[in-house]
Amino acid sequence: MTALTLKPAAAAGQRADVIVVGVAKGAKGPVVAPGAAVVDEAFGGKLAAVLETLGASGGEGETTKLPAPDGLKAPVVLAIGLGELPAKDGAFADDTLRRAAGAAARALAGTKKAVFALPADSAEAVAAVAEGAALGAYVFDAYKDNGEAKNGKNGKGPLGEAAIAVDKPRDKAVKAALERAVAVAEEVNRSRDLINTPPNDLTPEAFAAVASAAAKEHGIKVQVLDEKALAKGGYGGILGVGAGSQNPPRLVKLAYTHPKAQKSLAFVGKGITYDSGGISLKPAGHNETMKCDMSGAAAVFAAVVSAARLGLEVNVTGWLALAENMPSGSATRPGDVLRMYSGKTVEVLNTDAEGRLVLADALWKASEAKPDAIVDVATLTGAMMMALGSRTFGIMANDDAFRTSVHEIAEEVGEASWPMPLPKHLLKGMESPTADIANMGERMGGGLVAGLFLQEFVGEGIAWAHLDIAGPAFHEGAPYGYTPKGGTGSAVRTLVRLAERTAAGDLG
Ligand code: BES
Ligand code: MN
Ligand code: ZN
Repeated sequence: MTALTLKPAAAAGQRADVIVVGVAKGAKGPVVAPGAAVVDEAFGGKLAAVLETLGASGGEGETTKLPAPDGLKAPVVLAIGLGELPAKDGAFADDTLRRAAGAAARALAGTKKAVFALPADSAEAVAAVAEGAALGAYVFDAYKDNGEAKNGKNGKGPLGEAAIAVDKPRDKAVKAALERAVAVAEEVNRSRDLINTPPNDLTPEAFAAVASAAAKEHGIKVQVLDEKALAKGGYGGILGVGAGSQNPPRLVKLAYTHPKAQKSLAFVGKGITYDSGGISLKPAGHNETMKCDMSGAAAVFAAVVSAARLGLEVNVTGWLALAENMPSGSATRPGDVLRMYSGKTVEVLNTDAEGRLVLADALWKASEAKPDAIVDVATLTGAMMMALGSRTFGIMANDDAFRTSVHEIAEEVGEASWPMPLPKHLLKGMESPTADIANMGERMGGGLVAGLFLQEFVGEGIAWAHLDIAGPAFHEGAPYGYTPKGGTGSAVRTLVRLAERTAAGDLG
């Protein structure tokens, strides 16, 4: 990953290939953001005027490259648009800085070293710039062999080093903020790698092996249930979904514990390494991106590793429910009844509603340890995408206060989300004449129906939230801010901050 370092602000004119400055949209044209004093001085205090002449407005994500004047030790200045200038004396929001640093880092692919002279005047702001730069510089080129593998896109590799100019580079809080940002960004990028890895390589077994190796490296206890262990344990949901595939399913348990922990969290991730729909096969046009259907498990994995790397004083158990949903002679049929790990029976009416089946087993298993809270993360329904679009995840919960907390935490880390209800009347649509419940209900409100199904498999009295990340998990459009094309790492930062808040005793 791009190396992140701290440099004194006065040395913003130090040797580098590029200096990044912020430019905001003022009432009367572009305004140079704080942090760039050294650069503005080198321009004789006329940087804003020069930028305006070049057509820059300060609009969000706008990039303007200009040659540096004498006096700066970097040959090029990159002005990155921050968007609207905050109200008088107000600071730029953390996510504004994160997005700007991300867009700048992406624009600097192929550059060895850039100094970021952005308004990073607090530990939080430094963290935002660092996180944004590390996330925005992300490149997935593991499968590019036509010379690009070594060199990146257009012969360029990702930005080599982002040196962040700060007032107090030796300040303890600033250093700690940078360290945290590096750890979290590396784990978000690791989850992106997993999501982007094609499904012929990332089978449930391969995912479990990656998780086991990382767990060992970070002192996390790991347990992998293979298809035999799953059969012995009665995990009918996970086995039923994996039944059609040559690549058998896995349930991975990752347990991070801290000796001083007062609270315990369980994170449960949907890990469908490929969702063809099964016998209820998806039509062409709906299956090309379905390698992303393990994004929930990738987020959970990354969050548990982050908790371990940060040494958080909270116990965090991750459950990765891994299966490949394929059609074949051995696949589960619409009409089959599965006996779930909880003992409940489910009539499978649509094999494409597979995520709730693997999650149901993992949720019930996670409930046995009676954690203080459970959060599941899943690319669960197209309906949630219809409701909230492709950048916002839905949050459902069995506890209003917990749902509000998760929503606020997501907001705080810059992840767009929205609270959604679980209307009881929708349970009726899932009544089955044959089994305890069907895996499908009313089409309208499909995201909420899925949430209600999951709730049936959450242990009594445990606070639970469900994040449906079907929209934001995989980005198909042009990159923006710190969001690349492909796997985004959605929900990782929310889970990590939730673990931090829980460790600090801020929740319940
Ligand atoms: N993995 C899909 C949901 C999905 C769709 C994720 C688009 C990301 C982008 C899920 O397994 C699925 O197929 N859900 C069905 C449920 C339906 C059959 C009740 C859906 O949403 O259509
Ligand atoms: Mn499906
Ligand atoms: Zn799916």
